Amino acid sequence: MLDVGAPDFTLGVVGAGAMGSGIAQVALTGGIAVVLADADPAQAEKARTSIFARLDRLVEKGAAKPELLAAAKSRLAVAKGVEEFARCGVVVEAIYENLEAKRKIFQALEAVVAEDAILASNTSSIPIASIAQACKQRGRVAGMHFFNPVPLMRLVEIIASADTTPAVVETLSELGRRLGRTPVAVKDAPGFLVNFGGRAYYQEALHILQENAATADDVDLVMRECCGFRMGPFELLDLTGMDVNYPVSEIVHKGYWYDPRIKTTPLHESMFLAGRLGRKTGIGFHRYDADGKKLPGPVMPPRQASKPTRIILPEAQEGLIALAVAAGVETVAPDDEASPIVVAPWGEDCTTIAARLGLDHRRTVAIDLSHDTSKRITLMTAPGADGASADAVAAMLAATGRAVTRIADSPGFIAQRITAVIANLGCEMAQMALADPADIDKAMRLGLNYPLGPLGLADAMGVKRTWELMCRLQEATGSDRYRPSLWLRRRALLGLSAATPA
Ligand SMILES: NC(=O)c1ccc[n+]([C@@H]2O[C@H](COP(=O)([O-])OP(=O)(O)OC[C@H]3O[C@@H](n4cnc5c(N)ncnc54)[C@H](O)[C@@H]3O)[C@@H](O)[C@H]2O)c1
Repeated sequence: MLDVGAPDFTLGVVGAGAMGSGIAQVALTGGIAVVLADADPAQAEKARTSIFARLDRLVEKGAAKPELLAAAKSRLAVAKGVEEFARCGVVVEAIYENLEAKRKIFQALEAVVAEDAILASNTSSIPIASIAQACKQRGRVAGMHFFNPVPLMRLVEIIASADTTPAVVETLSELGRRLGRTPVAVKDAPGFLVNFGGRAYYQEALHILQENAATADDVDLVMRECCGFRMGPFELLDLTGMDVNYPVSEIVHKGYWYDPRIKTTPLHESMFLAGRLGRKTGIGFHRYDADGKKLPGPVMPPRQASKPTRIILPEAQEGLIALAVAAGVETVAPDDEASPIVVAPWGEDCTTIAARLGLDHRRTVAIDLSHDTSKRITLMTAPGADGASADAVAAMLAATGRAVTRIADSPGFIAQRITAVIANLGCEMAQMALADPADIDKAMRLGLNYPLGPLGLADAMGVKRTWELMCRLQEATGSDRYRPSLWLRRRALLGLSAATPA
């Protein structure tokens, strides 16, 4: 087997753009010699200069020793022709996303590299098998999918097509570790693992917006403050750019034969077509100044209301009682025909729970007690609500020091439905054996900065409760978008962790 730890091991990188230069940089800091090439010689030189500048900054910050830096710089060679890759044990291709161009590169490389050399592509969306088709030895072709910016993102997906040999996956995983990355072995499937799983977060948020249930600001705030995500889904859409995330959504959706679970919305497409790409164009779901700083959205004047004297709790949930006690509000069970009725549904909208419990829907206010409610709490009402009840309950919640997000009726509010959909898609990835269950969570945490992986999220919410949530979302909407994964259903019925292997 190829020894990626050998002193003379050399890595080839074709394409010296954002990704190629990042890959070369982590190889150099990992003590590996690099041959770097680009179709545009000026770009290759520019990459060399920017890599060296980043290495210098590492020394300035005390993150690297000066003598190691000089050695790292001396290990970089900018190639003038493809023959210079003859000495590379592994070549990673990182040219632009085009199948024909990638196939040509692989054929040219195969003609010069050693018999046991490995050829890998950093493609985000092209099936590895379709690139390998151009090669004589398909067993040595694999995906090595890094994340942007490479030096900061620890994850690398090692993608095996049906022809890739296990030894190639093992060698590339070892190489990934030598580059300071965490490798995860993944099947050759649309979007591979992270770009498939990542659809859930954005797209459920887009569906909430499409249903006019909440604003982009509401969704971002709730996902950050109640669910611990570093960025809200719309902030993330704006950061990656509609020119990147919309085409990937299309590719993945088509790749899975239009499975509604990974369907985006018309608004996503129209933002892309209108050039409202996000931070880079100054406008996306939010607005940005010339430095890319998010501008504050419109602020609604606070509604003037007093907290109620008492609230009606048809179902005595501890969390609701605690909130009322903290606000100094009395709780009673029998309806006095005047006070706000407060419920905490799980996967139901306010309409459904009011109808199921026979409540006066005009005075019924639903509160989301899932996830962290210490900073912010979401409430919603059914159509025809009197408004005054929600104002009074919002005042009660504000009296406990919490910010209040008011949304229109939505099964699963914001937090429940987004987290359930993430967990469900993670279960589906496990069901399809896209990767080992533990690796699915690892990849989603490292690749997307999620606070928990999707299977960990299902465990944290309760596997049975997550399954029930999906069943209720499917029932309320009639949409197969919320079809629970069999993986989730089986573990819910048996009382097992979502990470239990098949
Ligand atoms: N940018 C990302 O966030 C990201 C993340 C993961 C994977 N990827 C994938 O990595 C690859 C590269 O993306 P990028 O963002 O670095 O692109 P980029 O546009 O920054 O760089 C591509 C480079 O390849 C060069 N090039 C084009 N054709 C070439 C050829 N035939 N031979 C040699 N060089 C050639 C270009 O001159 C350019 O410098 C793509 O397949 C992309 O899908 C990108």
